[in-house]
Amino acid sequence: MTAMEQPSKLIDKFGRHVDYIRLSVTDRCDFRCVYCMTEDMQFLPRKEILSLEELYRVAKVFTELGVKKIRLTGGEPMVRSNVMSLIEKLGALPGLEELLLTTNGAQLDKYAVPLKAAGVKRINISLDSLDADRFKRISRVGKLERVLAGIDAAKAAGFERIRLNAVVMRGYNDDEVVALTDYAVERDIDIAFIEEMPLGDASDHDREETTCSNDWVRGVIAEAYQLTDVTAKTAGPSRYVRIEGTNSRIGFISPVTHNFCADCNRVRVTVEGRLLLCLGNEHSIDLRAILRDQQLTDDDLKQAIIASMDIKPERHYFYDKDYQQPVRLMNMTGG
Ligand code: 5AD
Ligand code: SF4
Repeated sequence: MTAMEQPSKLIDKFGRHVDYIRLSVTDRCDFRCVYCMTEDMQFLPRKEILSLEELYRVAKVFTELGVKKIRLTGGEPMVRSNVMSLIEKLGALPGLEELLLTTNGAQLDKYAVPLKAAGVKRINISLDSLDADRFKRISRVGKLERVLAGIDAAKAAGFERIRLNAVVMRGYNDDEVVALTDYAVERDIDIAFIEEMPLGDASDHDREETTCSNDWVRGVIAEAYQLTDVTAKTAGPSRYVRIEGTNSRIGFISPVTHNFCADCNRVRVTVEGRLLLCLGNEHSIDLRAILRDQQLTDDDLKQAIIASMDIKPERHYFYDKDYQQPVRLMNMTGG
């Protein structure tokens, strides 16, 4: 290790280095996806959520601890008012190598160009169906045409990589995995298939009935395309394959049927300032109390974050029906 490379100071009891944070900038969203929210969600009152300045301070402190990569999540990040001013500041944050965004795409026709200009490198856009009625059924209120226009705008803006995210649910969109793959291939972009995680009681369906394993999804796509494993794996829970003869890759995010926790390199910060050490467990510390205590400094914040690494759980137990799953919904977690 040369003096130039600043290693992450965040190392947990299992020797995992945390160099990636997912920062939720709002719990609100203009969609109500069945796997993420209830239909009549109550959102947090304003004073409970971190201000844009507090979010920036959190990001800055994490980069000073060696975090290289920040993904902005929500809810839907782009519904937060003035979020572009935060994104512009994050784009200029010293030490931050990658600024990424997960979005539902509904406002990308307006924001793709400014996001790219602010320094966002890669963007993940949720797309669960190419059929307008089904899209509405899954997102409860979303309009497919807005998202497709957003994807076109992102493509035109020239991001380094665009990845579609599809949560596959039996009875909702399991017959569309090849069509969604075709759509990605035609646009030279990537697509990830995600197994629905049991977070909170969001939906009108019984998750046991809708569960679709990624091994099954891969089998279906393999009948239409030749897939080759990509050996160099990115740290974290996704596994990628190349689609031969195309520029697209497929990611399989299989939290339910496979456990990749040994490679976990990330923590999450909710918009309430809760530092969540694992998606599938409740272990957390309250950063907001530290941020709002006038007596406490950035150093105190750093000490608390470093100390929190000791309570990062070894793994989640999403596949275990008897395990007490988190009651927190995805929009409160930071997708
Ligand atoms: N399980 C899996 N993925 C989810 N997302 C939201 N809720 C869930 C869940 N329960 C993902 C969707 C969306 C992103 C913001 O979070 O893929 O694209
Ligand atoms: Fe909104 Fe994303 Fe949740 Fe859907 S999954 S309701 S788009 S935050």
